[in-house]
This record gives sequence, C-alpha cells and structure tokens, in this order.
Amino acid sequence: MSNGLLAGKRGIIFGALDEQSIAWQVAEKCVAQGAKITLTNAPVALRLGTIQQLAEKIGAEVIPADATSLEDLENLLTKSQEILGGKMDFMLHSIGMSVNMRKKRTYDDLNYDWMQKTFDISAISFHKLMQTAMKMDAMNEWGSILALTYIAAQRVFPDYSEMAESKSLLESFARSFGYHWAKKANVRVNTVSQSPTMTTAGTGVKGFQDFFDYSNKMSPLGNATSEQCADYCVAMFSDLTKMVTMQNLYHDGGFSNMGMAPEVLGL
Ligand code: NAI
Repeated sequence: MSNGLLAGKRGIIFGALDEQSIAWQVAEKCVAQGAKITLTNAPVALRLGTIQQLAEKIGAEVIPADATSLEDLENLLTKSQEILGGKMDFMLHSIGMSVNMRKKRTYDDLNYDWMQKTFDISAISFHKLMQTAMKMDAMNEWGSILALTYIAAQRVFPDYSEMAESKSLLESFARSFGYHWAKKANVRVNTVSQSPTMTTAGTGVKGFQDFFDYSNKMSPLGNATSEQCADYCVAMFSDLTKMVTMQNLYHDGGFSNMGMAPEVLGL
C-alpha cells in the first residue's frame, strides 16, 4: 500500500546484495512510497549479488562504491545528485561485515588488522559517508540519515564477536554526528536496532538459526521481518518523524525490554 509518504524525495540506499537483504526491502518500499533513489554496493557485491535485478525492477541506477573509500563516496554523492536532480533527502547505511568472523577467528584470538578492517567497513564508513555528504553540502534541510544496528552493542551475545564493538561505534557516530547535522541543516541521524533477520550477513553469525528462534520466543511480538524493518525506515525518512534524532531505535518486537519469557523455558 502506498500513501506517497516519500513523494518528491531523493535518497541513496546502501547494502542491497540480494532479495534477502534488508536494504532490498527498504529500496522497494521507498520507491513504492514515491521516492527516487540510487542503489549502491561494493564492486565485489555487484558481481556476487543480484542488485541489478532490483535496479531493473524499481527503475533505479546502481553506482558502485566501497563505503570505506572517500573517493568512491564522493563519486556516489556527485552522481546521485546528477541522476536524481538535486540534493538527497535520505540515506540508508545497511552495511556490515566482520573479517574475523568470516575467517572463523574466536573472540579471544582476533587478528587486529582484520578488526580494523571490520570497524572501517561496518562503522567508520558511516562517519565517512556523513562527513563527505556534509562537506559536499549534499543533503537537503530536514533530511534523514539511518544506519542499521543490533542490540549486541548493548548486551553480550558471545558469537557476535567484534561486530558488537562495530555496532557500538556505529551508534555512537549516529549520536555524535547527529548533533552536527542538526545544527548544519536540521538533518536527523538515527540507528534502527533490528531483530535477527535471515540474510547473508545475519546467517554468517555462528548458530544463527538457534539464535533466531530464541529471539523470536523472547520477543512478545516475535522477530521483526525485513519488510517490517523497511516500513519503519520509510517512516523515519518521511516528514512524520522530523524531530527524532540521535536515537538508537529498537525495532525488535519488544526483545530489548524483556527479562524472562516463559516461552523460552517451555512453560
Ligand atoms: P546483507 O549481507 O544482505 O547486507 C550487508 C551488506 O553490506 C551487503 O550488501 C554487502 O555487500 C555490504 N558491504 C560489505 N562490505 C561493504 C563495503 N566495503 N562497501 C559497501 N558495502 C559493503 O545483510 P543484512 O542483514 O541485510 O545487513 C544489513 C545491515 O543490517 C547490516 O548493518 C547488519 O549488521 C544489520 N543488521 C542485520 C541483522 C540480521 O540479523 N541480519 C540484525 C540487525 C542488524
């Protein structure tokens, strides 16, 4: 259902790899709500994933960008403004990757070069994007910038490894840069803390299925799906949420406020 919530708005969606990706769902919903967008992902993801299919489906252009490269981000922001015909109203950072996790290194045996790479991709890229966009004056007044995060930033989930610190850093960047963006152009910056979701990044976490089932039982509303996350992102990009900024917003069916759930214990 479309209510034209994003009519006339322009945006950039990072991180649609395949149909499972949360960003894929967000891109589809933004366009259905009247927005014009560009899609972007790392060059390697363009080769391995199916983003081109999404681009054709929603009539969007794909601009390759490694989110850790300032040059790529500048090019992305320049081209997006040319293609869409003006400054951006919203941007979604939907990027996460742990090198140590991928190489099966345990939390008490991490490689620190890989850890730096993980932080760069999963968190510092968010600062790089916001700083580049600010220097280029590429955001419209009252725009909205979002990044996706997970509650392992606040609580211990042993198999989430160095991604926990990545998410803490990401959320901190949203708060700190949120101040500067508000003062500069009334732009809001928030993170959405999403339930476990069956995607490439999600299922890369050891024991993900058990973890997913546990979370589903712990959450009174159940796990939030990627489609529901996309609806929430649309709301956050719309003019209905103009005064929400510097927040970590839980989109998790109630998980974050639970202590004990009888369902988990089989009571
Ligand atoms: P996904 O695997 O579909 O998306 C991750 C994306 O990051 C991919 O498109 C990948 O190509 C991109 N990426 C990796 N390195 C990059 C680079 N250097 N430059 C640009 N893009 C790069 O998985 P998902 O789950 O949709 O992940 C999106 C976001 O949601 C991530 O931040 C993830 O941590 C977060 N999230 C995921 C949850 C889950 O259970 N799946 C739960 C809570 C948050």
